[in-house]
Amino acid sequence: MIPIDFTGKVALVTGVGDNESFAWFISKALNAAGAKVVLACHPRMVGIVESIMTREQDRESRLLPYGGGELKVEKILPCDVSYDTMADVPEEVRTDRRYAKFPEYSIQGTVDAVGKEFGGIDIVIHSVAFSREITKSHKDTSRKAYYEALGISAYSLTSLMRAAEPYMANRPGGAAAVGLTYLGGDRVVPYYGGGMSTAKAALQIDAKQLASNLGSKNIRVNLISAGPYASRAARSIRPGEFEKSIEYASQRSPLPRPITPDEVANATVFLCSSLASGVTGQVLYVDCGYNVMAV
Ligand SMILES: NC(=O)c1ccc[n+]([C@@H]2O[C@H](COP(=O)([O-])OP(=O)(O)OC[C@H]3O[C@@H](n4cnc5c(N)ncnc54)[C@H](O)[C@@H]3O)[C@@H](O)[C@H]2O)c1
Repeated sequence: MIPIDFTGKVALVTGVGDNESFAWFISKALNAAGAKVVLACHPRMVGIVESIMTREQDRESRLLPYGGGELKVEKILPCDVSYDTMADVPEEVRTDRRYAKFPEYSIQGTVDAVGKEFGGIDIVIHSVAFSREITKSHKDTSRKAYYEALGISAYSLTSLMRAAEPYMANRPGGAAAVGLTYLGGDRVVPYYGGGMSTAKAALQIDAKQLASNLGSKNIRVNLISAGPYASRAARSIRPGEFEKSIEYASQRSPLPRPITPDEVANATVFLCSSLASGVTGQVLYVDCGYNVMAV
């Protein structure tokens, strides 16, 4: 029998905004394999995620795959990946009532809190992306929105890994990071504007750079390029239209159907496990094979 057992491992998961996020399914799969899960959620989403973790009406969504009970998280920490340290936070954000209640929500502070409390970090999940001009074509994207999309959606992985390096270095069996990317980082997907395609292209080379920079510490860095899936963020790209992209891709994919978020979660578990101990700097396409097609 080939075991995947994350008992005793600590996973820091970014990007849970609700119980439809890829990161939600990833958290459940990691937890089902035995990992202790700490969520680092956008400060504005902390309350929503806390209620999803406790409300009876959301119980079914908390059920773990493979009959493993219910999702249990160790902590839900606020983290806005726009900020490396609290010194980067501008005054208008600091005083915003949705932020003001939290003394710490930078990448460095979040990673330090987890690393110190749990004595190390074995798994980091990067599942965040944002562009305020996502509905604009690339040509019409402003410089401000472009840089913001790059900072939140791409640079944040580098910042996370720099902060996590001391806690992930030379862990028993090695440590692993997995990020989420999209085909729009390789090729033109017409609706994927606002700097997001550039951010995904940047994320893809950054993951290779980080794999090279961190490999000597036995830290692996890989990405999953997921097929289109109607999470809340994805539906907001073109309200009502995104479902058509899913249909388009599924009709043309070698496996002629949409992906499920559990498939992304399972592939993430594989990449974090010792079964993938020789795999780093890679992009694994979990898209029913759509990327190999030229139609
Ligand atoms: N849904 C798809 O079709 C699809 C396909 C391929 C890749 N992806 C990628 O998967 C990842 C997760 O997206 P999803 O589809 O699960 O949507 P989602 O909206 O559930 O997740 C995106 C998360 O990013 C978080 N976020 C945005 N700005 C942030 C910030 N400044 N600080 C901290 N968190 C911030 C949001 O709160 C949200 O939880 C993203 O990287 C996305 O690009 C999605």
